[in-house]
Amino acid sequence: MTTLIPIDQGRLWKRHMAMAQIGALPNGGVNRPALSQGDAQSRSLLARWAEELGFSVETDPIGNLFIHRPGTDETLPPVMAGSHLDTQPTGGKFDGAFGVLAAFEALQAIHEAGIATRHPIEVVSWTNEEGSRFQPGCSGSSAFTGAVPLEQHLEAVDRDGITARDALAAVLSTERGMPMRPLGFPVAAFLECHIEQGPKLEEAGVPVGIVTGIQGSRWFAIEVQGDEAHAGTTPRRNRRDALSAAISMVAALERLMFDEEDRVRFTVGRFEVSPGSPNTIPGRVFFTIDFRHPEASTLKRLGDQVDAVCRAHVGPCSVTITETFHSLPADFDANVIAAMRKAADLVGVRTLDLPSGALHDAKFLQEVCPSGMIFVPCEKGISHNEAENAKPEDLASGARVLAEALAILANS
Ligand code: GLV
Ligand code: MN
Ligand code: MN
Ligand code: MN
Repeated sequence: MTTLIPIDQGRLWKRHMAMAQIGALPNGGVNRPALSQGDAQSRSLLARWAEELGFSVETDPIGNLFIHRPGTDETLPPVMAGSHLDTQPTGGKFDGAFGVLAAFEALQAIHEAGIATRHPIEVVSWTNEEGSRFQPGCSGSSAFTGAVPLEQHLEAVDRDGITARDALAAVLSTERGMPMRPLGFPVAAFLECHIEQGPKLEEAGVPVGIVTGIQGSRWFAIEVQGDEAHAGTTPRRNRRDALSAAISMVAALERLMFDEEDRVRFTVGRFEVSPGSPNTIPGRVFFTIDFRHPEASTLKRLGDQVDAVCRAHVGPCSVTITETFHSLPADFDANVIAAMRKAADLVGVRTLDLPSGALHDAKFLQEVCPSGMIFVPCEKGISHNEAENAKPEDLASGARVLAEALAILANS
């Protein structure tokens, strides 16, 4: 009988609860924006746990955190696992944190069991996965792989006019003495654990999902310009009402994106009306589009129509359309999937194959190294919501599969 890597379910759960204290919200959720003070605190908590166990912690020019356990051959590239510690503004305790904490639990368990691996193993926390403060998201992973230039991420500005460059400098100033690596290096394989953020695993009663791939996404920023004018005196012929134009654009886009099969995902998540006074005609509206589809051809066909549809409904106003993010659908690596299946067999858990509707850092890693993802169920599939919840035993099952898969890959 093989001895399993001893994942400690209680310790893993306790660390989730400790992490969720940072940026805790009254309804049980978490608000830990990327590169905020809370994000800095979550990083230092993780770094403290790592240092207590004797692991070295390093960062890089986009602020990714790396925890290193040496392999027997330090010339080999690391096998890496992790996710992100930033959250949505009204996020939950598990989105992102689970992937980092499961990886850390796997590392600790492998270490304490005295298991030697040929490749080094690294835990990583990628910077700004969510993209809710600085757009686009996945800045740590996409800068690491070179998919998006570092400078582009550093120039991103939040709603208060703070650049990611300044926010990152403030975070790094709290971590004086932490060694800085150059951006990007060879990785043997990357694994990411995550809550499913959808209902399939819970509905099937299966504790572990093996993720086959990630659908594509395109983000747009739309700025509609009209003229501010008096609400009571300005006749229709003289109005350049940016809100009227914006709502007809959104209605037309909703019609464009409607599909009977319900495979298109279309969301206007931010909609800002200026100056926001009841008796002034809106002079400016800014809104965002998040559009996703599993097929590259549909992602292109529908996404390429956004510009024309917005222009067709601009009326007397003007509009600027900027595509801020474009990520093609991707399949995960067959060998990594095979290692995860073997790991699940060893652990003795049932698995379900499923695609990911959400974007994850693993999408970018898959472009430069063999990668894969492990999902665990979350309650009613709810995520990006304070009510997000998961069971300690499911988190532990995911971490067990991760640990065995890491050991397999790091010894191959
Ligand atoms: C990340 O949370 C995403 O899929 O947008
Ligand atoms: Mn996430
Ligand atoms: Mn998320
Ligand atoms: Mn995500």
